[in-house]
Amino acid sequence: MLFTIMDLQGFIVSFLSLALLVSGQYDGSRYAWYTSAATDFNSALPVGNGRLGGLMYCTPTEKISLNENSIWSGPFLNRLNPNASSVLSHVRSMLESGNITGAGQVALPNMAGNPTSPQHYTPLGQLSLDFGHSSQGSLNRWLDTYQGNSGCSYIYNGVNYTREIVANYPTGVLAMRLQAGQAGQLNINISLSRSQNVISNTASTSGGVNSIVMRGNSGGSDPYFTAEAQVILSGGSVSASGSSLMVRGATTVDILFDAETSYRYSTEADAEAVLARRLSSATSQGYQALRTAAIADNTALIGRVSLDLGSSSGSAANLPTNQRLSNYKTNPGGDVQLVTLMYNMGRHLLVASSRDTGPLSLPANLQGIWNEDFNPAWGSKYTININLEMNYWHAETTNLAETTKPFWDLLALAKTRGQLAASSMYGCPGFVLHHNTDLWGDPAPVDYGTPYTLWPMGGLWLSSHLMEHYRFTGNKTFLQETAWPILQSAADFSFCFTFLWNGYYTTGPSLSPENSFIVPSNESTAGHSEGIDLSPTMDNSLLYQLFSDVIEACQILGLTSSECSNAKNYLSKIKRPQIGSYGQILEWRQEYGETDPGMRHLSPLFDLYPGSQMTPTVSSSLATAAGILLDHRMQHGSGSTGWSRAWVIACYARLFNGGSAWNNVQAFLQTFPLTNLFNSNDGPPMQIDGNFGFTAGVTELFLQSHAGLVHILPALPSALPTGSVTGLVGRGGFEVDIHWSNGVLESASITSKLGSTLALSVANGSSFSVNGQKYSGAIGTQPGGVYNITLH
Ligand SMILES: *[C@@H]1O[C@H](CO)[C@@H](O)[C@H](O)[C@H]1NC(C)=O
Ligand SMILES: *[C@@H]1O[C@H](CO)[C@@H](O)[C@H](O)[C@H]1NC(C)=O
Ligand SMILES: *[C@@H]1O[C@H](CO)[C@@H](O)[C@H](O)[C@H]1NC(C)=O
Ligand SMILES: *[C@@H]1O[C@H](CO)[C@@H](O)[C@H](O)[C@H]1NC(C)=O
Ligand SMILES: *[C@@H]1O[C@H](CO)[C@@H](O)[C@H](O)[C@H]1NC(C)=O
Ligand SMILES: *[C@@H]1O[C@H](CO)[C@@H](O)[C@H](O)[C@H]1NC(C)=O
Ligand SMILES: *[C@@H]1O[C@H](CO)[C@@H](O)[C@H](O)[C@H]1NC(C)=O
Ligand SMILES: *[C@@H]1O[C@H](CO)[C@@H](O)[C@H](O)[C@H]1NC(C)=O
Repeated sequence: MLFTIMDLQGFIVSFLSLALLVSGQYDGSRYAWYTSAATDFNSALPVGNGRLGGLMYCTPTEKISLNENSIWSGPFLNRLNPNASSVLSHVRSMLESGNITGAGQVALPNMAGNPTSPQHYTPLGQLSLDFGHSSQGSLNRWLDTYQGNSGCSYIYNGVNYTREIVANYPTGVLAMRLQAGQAGQLNINISLSRSQNVISNTASTSGGVNSIVMRGNSGGSDPYFTAEAQVILSGGSVSASGSSLMVRGATTVDILFDAETSYRYSTEADAEAVLARRLSSATSQGYQALRTAAIADNTALIGRVSLDLGSSSGSAANLPTNQRLSNYKTNPGGDVQLVTLMYNMGRHLLVASSRDTGPLSLPANLQGIWNEDFNPAWGSKYTININLEMNYWHAETTNLAETTKPFWDLLALAKTRGQLAASSMYGCPGFVLHHNTDLWGDPAPVDYGTPYTLWPMGGLWLSSHLMEHYRFTGNKTFLQETAWPILQSAADFSFCFTFLWNGYYTTGPSLSPENSFIVPSNESTAGHSEGIDLSPTMDNSLLYQLFSDVIEACQILGLTSSECSNAKNYLSKIKRPQIGSYGQILEWRQEYGETDPGMRHLSPLFDLYPGSQMTPTVSSSLATAAGILLDHRMQHGSGSTGWSRAWVIACYARLFNGGSAWNNVQAFLQTFPLTNLFNSNDGPPMQIDGNFGFTAGVTELFLQSHAGLVHILPALPSALPTGSVTGLVGRGGFEVDIHWSNGVLESASITSKLGSTLALSVANGSSFSVNGQKYSGAIGTQPGGVYNITLH
């Protein structure tokens, strides 16, 4: 019966594709493409060079949305509440004695930040290109997730007009080419604009340089910026009028763009000198060379990984992306290449929004770098109780380790700010961050609510990425110079902040992001919903991870500092995850009544993913309990945002449950992608974490490498009998290519980059050979050595 319905749908899909377009024009695993112009932010196509972002619409009057990742709403705000340290011990004793509601009532007003929000991300503005066209025939627009560029073409008055945009990382500019298929047919009015806080905006053609320079700031304060578009013509003429350049009778027009801000340069003159240098380099290279270099740079990163999950039924993958998304809602089995496209999109968006752009690089925020709104959802800032971490889950595993540099830059900045917060709020050395930060590394608590504001563990979660980076790359310089000072500081805070209670080092006041519980009958106020407590499971997991990481770093670096021995002492007194009445992992120190059984945050499952203490190979009993909690959450509607669903995919993969992971991959694609494939929370606003988490979760189906084991095809879904993935990276510095058919491994090839010891598993227990020798235990590898895996 099922097959009949699917065949019928497959037939309808093929019929539509024949009727509507020439099939096979765009590779459906690689291109997002459309036959109409974008109607809004969620259908425009994103490019970026890690610092500058552009979204192209291809509307008759083009509006390229422009972003620079350090243009935020204002200067650093010291929001620390001076009352915090004086109420700390009182709040703790109230929690110990069971006055949960009272503790929240005292903690929140005296510890929350003032004002409650840090700065938020704001748009740079837009580049408008008025072509004077009133219609667009035979329109095609596309984003190439491999090359990282985007473009479109359409017919107007019999002439074929094309637009293309590339984000060039090596030179640090955006470059656009606008062309008419017939000589002399381009008339364009070009302007830069911004709806707020423009200081000056002037077009000029003097000295043979056609440029528009727009200066702005954040309401009279830092950060301020200078943006410049330079326009280069082939044929035709150009004149300046006010803030517009008017091009007449050209055949090709190139626009080169940069913006620089006071975030990275101490004087306006310094910032503008960099701007001038970049644009001068760009103009001397010219569009074609900039394009070639941008694509070479992009494909050198993107091309390291290639995923092939087979072909979609019939011509399902040849349809425009919006039609594929719509068809997928009713026939997910028909378009497996949509999974591949979304996977590739997750890597494109990371490379486009997170690059080492020098000192003070900034990582991808809640919207990557793309934002048109002066008051964006959740400030488009850095939410660090899941979202910023999720942005980087696929960075190491999908061979994009370089994209993590901005993460370290922000973490180092936030550490310095967080040291002041640790001493002011908690009377502690080391550094503390709460559940959000901004471009200045703001460490103070954010917003005003008991389920989210007072969570002093944000710095620990971010710090866990440091040791992971070392595990993947083996970079000892990084471990010593970048990671260790931050790990040491996170540990110093943790030694001081935790207190011995009932035999365990205990956190509090704290919470389990962003959940709440029902106060039990023997505590007060019984029946109330509260969030603040002592020692939530996730805090224990993060402490366990931190102390383990410190011990590992001390061993590798041969350190003997006090943190090394202290971490061992503390580790032995961190409470291990507890199991509740129906076999589930407990979220809190007691089995409280639930307020939201389908809670989207999987905070108590940190140790299943991204941690490893609850995975089957480390502890089968904790893995079972983690699976019970995960199933319980899903039965009650968890996975309700794209990022939550992405986390669910990774968790099921970690449980070797490929079937459930795959069901959630399909549900993700049926529910969360917007027209341009930006992830959403079941409809706008877009939130980029789900794009990144999706790619990370899908990767865990094919390769896992936590807890000292490189595991090939740990959770292969039966829906994917044949496929391959090349270039994934495992901890220990292993680059892994995997080919499978008929649901089993055909061959894998592992290149050892670092010469680490290689412990292997295939599909949780298949017997296999390495270079023809039956595998019987971990093998020592040679740097550069290649190890071929076959079954039997
Ligand atoms: C600090 O506490 C005092 C006295 O309870 C109160 O008046 C003041 O508003 C508090 N300050 C902040 C920033 O909450
Ligand atoms: C309330 O009861 C629970 C379950 O017996 C117990 O673990 C907890 O310590 C009690 N709370 C207080 C404040 O005694
Ligand atoms: C709990 O603490 C609040 C705030 O300090 C206080 O007003 C209340 O009386 C306390 N309740 C109990 C049962 O101790
Ligand atoms: C550009 O601006 C000029 C002057 O305002 C106007 O006459 C013209 O219609 C505009 N549009 C185009 C495409 O030239
Ligand atoms: C217009 O030119 C572009 C680029 O050469 C091409 O891809 C497109 O098919 C052309 N459009 C039409 C309708 O011929
Ligand atoms: C190792 O880390 C250091 C410090 O972060 C960095 O400068 C260097 O480029 C890294 N080496 C490699 C091979 O990535
Ligand atoms: C993995 O294999 C072991 C050993 O055969 C087995 O006990 C365990 O149940 C398997 N785990 C899962 C999650 O399938
Ligand atoms: C591994 O397989 C590749 C591709 O099949 C082959 O070229 C190579 O020689 C093999 N290496 C070893 C060590 O067997």
